[in-house]
Amino acid sequence: MDVKKAIEKRRAYRSLEKKDIKKSLIKDLARCAQLSASCFNNQPWNYIFVYKPEMLNKMHDALSSGNDWAKKASMIIVVLGKKDDDCVIYDRIYYRFDIGMATQNIILRATELGLVAHPIAGYSPRKTRKILGIPEELDVITLVIVGKHSKKINDLLYEKQIEAEKERPERKKIQDFVFYNKYGNK
Ligand SMILES: Cc1cc2nc3c(=O)[nH]c(=O)nc-3n(C[C@H](O)[C@H](O)[C@H](O)COP(=O)(O)O)c2cc1C
Repeated sequence: MDVKKAIEKRRAYRSLEKKDIKKSLIKDLARCAQLSASCFNNQPWNYIFVYKPEMLNKMHDALSSGNDWAKKASMIIVVLGKKDDDCVIYDRIYYRFDIGMATQNIILRATELGLVAHPIAGYSPRKTRKILGIPEELDVITLVIVGKHSKKINDLLYEKQIEAEKERPERKKIQDFVFYNKYGNK
């Protein structure tokens, strides 16, 4: 097993080049989501794999201005779900957690296959809904931008994004988020 390798390799790169998207890739990624754990096995996830050039072009209009780099996407995975499709236990609402886990399976598998799979929050859910015909009751949770990593840094990137292409953005120290046996125990 080499899960750790994919975890270490995964990066939210923003310099992309085109990659031909085949149905077999989509099925492979979907299978990895399908196998994910979910509360009561509710499987609350829905995905739209957008890869036709004319649909990708339409999606450009839904991207926020800092995400112009995503116009080079070969595929955009639109992650959808709704609260009622999964466990709600008092104030614990599980659909976003379960959909996040399934989506991470997709991202890690894409990484293993040598692709970039970069989730973004900078988009208009309203425009995305309109372009793709998504019903109101489904939340547009994230877009995952898929492509091939380009060694040439995208001209559209600003300083901080260029830095992030070269080096992984800094992480909190493990001792800042891990406790041993009891809350507060470092
Ligand atoms: C929910 C979510 C939303 C994000 N939104 C954006 C975004 O709108 N634009 C962007 O360029 N990166 C976005 N990112 C990527 C993060 O900036 C990136 O994961 C983080 O800086 C760490 O870098 P790394 O993933 O390469 O380790 C998002 C990531 C997540 C998980």
